[in-house]
Amino acid sequence: MKCPEIYAATNNRNKIEEFRSFFELFHIQFNIVPSPLKLEKLEDGTTLEENAYKKACFLSDKGYKPVFSDDTGLFLPFLDGIPGIFSSRFSGGSATYESNRSKLMDLTIGVSFERRKAYFKTVICFIAPSGETHFFTGIAEGFVLSEERGEYRFGYDPIFLYPPLGRTFGELPLETKNKISHRAKALSQFVQFLIHNEGILF
Ligand code: IMP
Repeated sequence: MKCPEIYAATNNRNKIEEFRSFFELFHIQFNIVPSPLKLEKLEDGTTLEENAYKKACFLSDKGYKPVFSDDTGLFLPFLDGIPGIFSSRFSGGSATYESNRSKLMDLTIGVSFERRKAYFKTVICFIAPSGETHFFTGIAEGFVLSEERGEYRFGYDPIFLYPPLGRTFGELPLETKNKISHRAKALSQFVQFLIHNEGILF
């Protein structure tokens, strides 16, 4: 597959690292270009789809294409889906990964393990140079823990237990997370789509 440059509508270095590592794992040599524009303030939609579209559209409208964006949230059904679309700013305007995890762990104090079911959901929005737009979705199911485990400190990963491996995402090497995560599932569909529609990139 002939691979041109593709813009990633994100300023998040963890996501860029995961995108690059994912494509490497599948021997696809995309040149992923991180967003040259700031994007955080665009995430004011009511769904991941809406936010993903806004981010990709912002770059595409300014001539950066082909482009794809990723909007992700951690959803806890027992908290009515919180933090969900508010995952990045869950603990307020100056939220950090750590403060967001602390707030969520506090909310799960005294809650039985079974009720702490949670899932990550990623929506990728791709906009081709022609303007054609496509969405790809991935979900990973697990449980939120009340203690942190693992060295990989991206977002909620240290408190997200993935039962099939008995480990948190924070305890997984990136190449393992990139085979089973919400993002990997969405990326995998995206890649399959590009393989079958190569011309769309140009
Ligand atoms: P965004 O709105 O897609 O940039 O992501 C929202 C927030 O979700 C991020 O600030 C992280 O805290 C969290 N997040 C996104 N992806 C992941 C992931 O793969 N693992 C853990 N946390 C994530």
